[in-house]
Amino acid sequence: MTDAPQLPEPLAQQLTDLGQQRLLAHWAQLEPAARDRLHRQLAGIDWPQVAGMRQLAASHDTAAALPVDAAWLRAANTPAGPRLRTGGPSPAGPLAASEAADRGAALLASGGAGVVLVAGGQASRLRCEGPKGIYPVGPVSQASLFELLLGRVREIAARSGRPIPLAIMTSSATDHDTRAFLSEHAFFGLQPEHVLIFQQGDLPALALESLDLLLDAPDHVAVAPDGHGGLLAALVAASGLDWFAERGVEHVATFQVDNPLAMPLDPEFLGYHLLADAEFSTQVVEKQQPAERVGVVAEHDGVHRVIEYSDLSDELAAARGPDGRLHLRAGSIAVHAFALAFLRRAAAAPDSLPLHLARKAVACLDGTGQLHRPAAANAFKFERFIFDLMPFARRVLTVEIEAAEGFAPLKNPPGAAADAPEHVQAAMNAQAHRRCAEAGVAVADEVVIELSPAVLTADDIRQRVPSGRIESPRVI
Ligand code: UD1
Repeated sequence: MTDAPQLPEPLAQQLTDLGQQRLLAHWAQLEPAARDRLHRQLAGIDWPQVAGMRQLAASHDTAAALPVDAAWLRAANTPAGPRLRTGGPSPAGPLAASEAADRGAALLASGGAGVVLVAGGQASRLRCEGPKGIYPVGPVSQASLFELLLGRVREIAARSGRPIPLAIMTSSATDHDTRAFLSEHAFFGLQPEHVLIFQQGDLPALALESLDLLLDAPDHVAVAPDGHGGLLAALVAASGLDWFAERGVEHVATFQVDNPLAMPLDPEFLGYHLLADAEFSTQVVEKQQPAERVGVVAEHDGVHRVIEYSDLSDELAAARGPDGRLHLRAGSIAVHAFALAFLRRAAAAPDSLPLHLARKAVACLDGTGQLHRPAAANAFKFERFIFDLMPFARRVLTVEIEAAEGFAPLKNPPGAAADAPEHVQAAMNAQAHRRCAEAGVAVADEVVIELSPAVLTADDIRQRVPSGRIESPRVI
């Protein structure tokens, strides 16, 4: 017998209705604080949504689970769009390129641009503790991703003469450490009143066979962040759309914390977005090999979508046109620009972001109450993807960039074949060498250099290197 207080109704009834009373297996033994924690977590779960997730998982058959109609996909093409000047001559023509750059610069100077940094991911694939944003990636400085990315926003704002409101999305896994790190570093020079930190939601994992929720501690249900698509609901919940609007923002660029070369606020990119009157613009790089792990933007009948690499059949991924280039080659690098009005419309539309599910290994308590870390997948995890908003946009624009100029994702630990820190650092070093050559500054090939976030133009480099030569590793 126990005198532990019962879980209040109607929550207890909801658990019973879904056959999830096992989540209370340790309830009677819990200390009051732990019981309170479990109670609060259970009360925060959207149970009708869980019922929907179980239906989705029950009908899930990976072989047939394409999120789009196969006929649509077979008919789809790579959308045409302008190319940023950093990637060479623009098919849109030099006039359009400079007009775009002027329009984007004017948007920045009027305070009409805001930006969201998607930073809910942990560095677990990198085999590190804590948020990915604190990873020291600078090839010379060892500066963190946050320092590089926030520093770039700070410098662009300073040159534009207007603050650029920055919202940073964390998750339950990264929120505390991110806030602590950013305050410790005084937001890398950004004014705190123009920074909004908001936390994305979590979704429970479901056991593969039973579709039951799992405990990963006696007082905690196993959950995972709800994907970068959680951005929309979380931003709304934090009054983030209003926060941007109050600051005069009309267009919001978004980018991921794992890419130190990302240029979401590139004036030319923003300018193309404005000139095309697009509601959703996105940067793409040309996918060269079928196996590259990037989603691709595809278009058919005026509808655009990002097709995740895991959802593309081998045959379609490998199809090439007569010119030898991949048929679906607009590789998504997750740098987008949205009209704020579009985000408002999307947020008001129920189910604008469907759930995707994946089989994953999820640590959970076994029958004896011990934590078990399975080597193989034992559960479904659920995520939303922000690019699923694309079909809802009235006008979508893809802007092609040169991968070497804007895409060096950090995904894997040192020594991995791709997307490892040494590859990212090599890409940053190579870009710095190209910029120095353009600025007429001589650097020996073997000298490692790094551009500080304050370097935006060739003039910046010339001013910082008056001798015109660099002979040892340095941050410019
Ligand atoms: C992602 C894209 C892929 C794109 C590639 C470019 C998806 C599903 N896939 O692949 O189309 O070509 O990036 O690098 O988006 N994150 C959160 N919260 C979450 C999940 C992720 O903030 O709940 C953040 C992570 O911190 C990371 C980013 O989103 O910065 C991407 O997540 P990741 O799992 O690395 O996506 P990829 O599979 O690499």
